Amino acid sequence: MAGPVAGFVYDNGILTCDGVALPDIAASAGTPVYVYSGALLAERYQAFEAPFAGVPHTLHYAIKANATLAILRRLRELGASADANSGGEIELALAAGFEPRAIVFTGVGKTRAELERAVALDLAAVNVESPGELSRIAALATAAGRTVRVAVRVNPDVDAGTHPHIATGSSATKFGMSIADARALVREMSARPAVRVVGLHVHIGSQITTPEPIARAVDLVTDLARSLMSEGVPLEHLDAGGGLGIAYRPDQTTLSPEAYAAAILPAIRRSGLRLLLEPGRWLIGPCGVLLTEVVDLKSQAGGERFVIVDAGMNDLIRPALYGAWHRIDAAHPRPGSPVRADVVGPVCETADTLGAQRDLPPLEVGDLLVVRDAGAYGAVMASNYNRRPLAAEVLVDRGHARLVRRRQTAADLRQWDE
Ligand SMILES: Cc1ncc(COP(=O)(O)O)c(C=O)c1O
Repeated sequence: MAGPVAGFVYDNGILTCDGVALPDIAASAGTPVYVYSGALLAERYQAFEAPFAGVPHTLHYAIKANATLAILRRLRELGASADANSGGEIELALAAGFEPRAIVFTGVGKTRAELERAVALDLAAVNVESPGELSRIAALATAAGRTVRVAVRVNPDVDAGTHPHIATGSSATKFGMSIADARALVREMSARPAVRVVGLHVHIGSQITTPEPIARAVDLVTDLARSLMSEGVPLEHLDAGGGLGIAYRPDQTTLSPEAYAAAILPAIRRSGLRLLLEPGRWLIGPCGVLLTEVVDLKSQAGGERFVIVDAGMNDLIRPALYGAWHRIDAAHPRPGSPVRADVVGPVCETADTLGAQRDLPPLEVGDLLVVRDAGAYGAVMASNYNRRPLAAEVLVDRGHARLVRRRQTAADLRQWDE
């Protein structure tokens, strides 16, 4: 018999995750709580991988999108490797069971301690962001008597056409180095035995929804790779980064993994190199919701209506930080005409608005709402602002809801203070 539909669907008027009713999860885990669909994650992982089946490739899940240990473990079981953006993410990947050689390490400001750890671990590659950083790695590797695998991060000066806060491929941003600088650096590095340049890396931004910028960036980096290889540089891989966008709005057009693959594979095939991919948002974004309870309803003198919920900008900062739009639904909609209102959190900031001017079914205090597509850059960007504990997280795995991160307590928060 077929199991329940993967992901978040209504069943008899109640929103479910992989067949488990969200009100049941709220009753046992409390709110606010992030809920993840293990079945949808598996589906999306396979859907992302499929169009790349014909080329040698490795999928390095970008941990920054969601660093909950259970999610990482699940992705490792599905066959993923890892992309870490800090020493903390490297340690988490190791804790989740990833081998060092399955981890690439990116990051624009790696500290000496992080580099020492990376040198000691023998990672798949350290993605190098500047000539200075490469010199520091070479010095640490020489001192340790080791050879380090590095990839040079190229900034191709391509506009990703995304929100400026998450665009990383223009020469006005801090990321990577120009094609000319990368070329000079790789040539220079060939003379340093402590460092082996095994690849080139490019990541021009996140939530990209058109193929052209991705194709352009990968083309430019492929041309550089081919020219370096023709000079005898023994490159092994080309890392195309992450960035594939998702449809936050129902009418938003995005790229399918097939269209994404079609944009980059011609260049990759030309190069003959192994392709590394670093997707984050596309894999996990739609697999998570933020489940929250209505704590108050009010109308102001100007006529504005507010639905006040127990999740705030500290739990999900994307709307406040990027003006991001997330669909909001009732977990168990009441019958009746929709009411237009702002869905706001309890944090002492007017920016603490999860959704403005939303048409929602009639609501009462105690009702549950879900903020959709919150699996990526949601829990992982949460903070303790207003001294609010981090929300609990639940993974519905093979049909069973499991608490994978318990809610912080006041005592948890106090333990760091002297
Ligand atoms: C270097 C790098 N790789 C991969 C990613 C993942 O991007 P996304 O979640 O958009 O796939 C990011 C995020 O911006 C990144 O900075």
